[in-house]
Amino acid sequence: MTLKLKKYAVVGHPIQHSKSPVIHHHFASEFRIDLIYERIDISPDNFSNEILALKKKGYLGLNITLPFKVDAFNICDKKSNKSQHTGSVNTISFVHDNVIGDSTDGIGLVRDLQAKKIKLSNSRILLIGAGGAANGVMYDLIVNNPNTIHILNRTLKKAQLMEERWQDLAHQHDINLDIVERKVSNIEIYDLVINATSSALLDGSLPIPEEYFNANTIYYDMTYGIETPFLKAAKETGAKSYDGLGMLVEQAAESFFIWHQLKPNTEIILRQL
Ligand code: ATR
Repeated sequence: MTLKLKKYAVVGHPIQHSKSPVIHHHFASEFRIDLIYERIDISPDNFSNEILALKKKGYLGLNITLPFKVDAFNICDKKSNKSQHTGSVNTISFVHDNVIGDSTDGIGLVRDLQAKKIKLSNSRILLIGAGGAANGVMYDLIVNNPNTIHILNRTLKKAQLMEERWQDLAHQHDINLDIVERKVSNIEIYDLVINATSSALLDGSLPIPEEYFNANTIYYDMTYGIETPFLKAAKETGAKSYDGLGMLVEQAAESFFIWHQLKPNTEIILRQL
């Protein structure tokens, strides 16, 4: 009898640089699980058909990355509470005939912050960006009870929509959620500034003026693999700064847990990457 190999993949467009296969194969080897985890580039105009085709081919789970996290949300039969709040899905499980969606980016960020001993409870956070990446981490930031979350986005209207979306949950956790404009006057002091914009990848620009950087704040960029202008500016002021590699590994660990009910060690692969 031949055992059927468990099949997983990350889908996105483009996808050739994704580190997810390396991370998931590393996790699987820790538990001696035989599986294959591939990168699949899918065409933006045929998302749902391609996903259903992968289900038919026997894949058990998929990670979903840019630009498909909202499309993935729209095709799932069942969604976790968290992905319903964020409106996006980065982890799909095919269980019996169901397509089940979850969102692990937020817990990935929070676990990486915890690993770096960055305290969230009672802290003052500035979150830059109001797109999918920023919304994707809001649930987990809020439930970790910071004192304040300020949202800053180039397009004010999007920041306003984001604030409306999260205000109820923030209120339940007694958090000051507000939007701030990108002005140099009256800059507040934050414990943690998180960059959730794609400005470094799109046009190589700094998403906030240089005046927002000071040595006593911690700066976290959710982008990984390049030194972004945001991280460079933080370093130049002598502040602590981190890229999003740890978040990538931790969100993968949470997806792995959803699929295999096993919690992998994240330290070794993080060092290797
Ligand atoms: P993602 O899923 O990566 O969040 P997205 O939903 O397209 O992608 O959102 C991109 C985010 O990066 C937005 O907050 C965007 O700001 P706008 O809402 O004003 O478009 C932000 N962004 C992109 N380029 C930027 C730049 N050059 N400066 C500042 N913010 C930028």
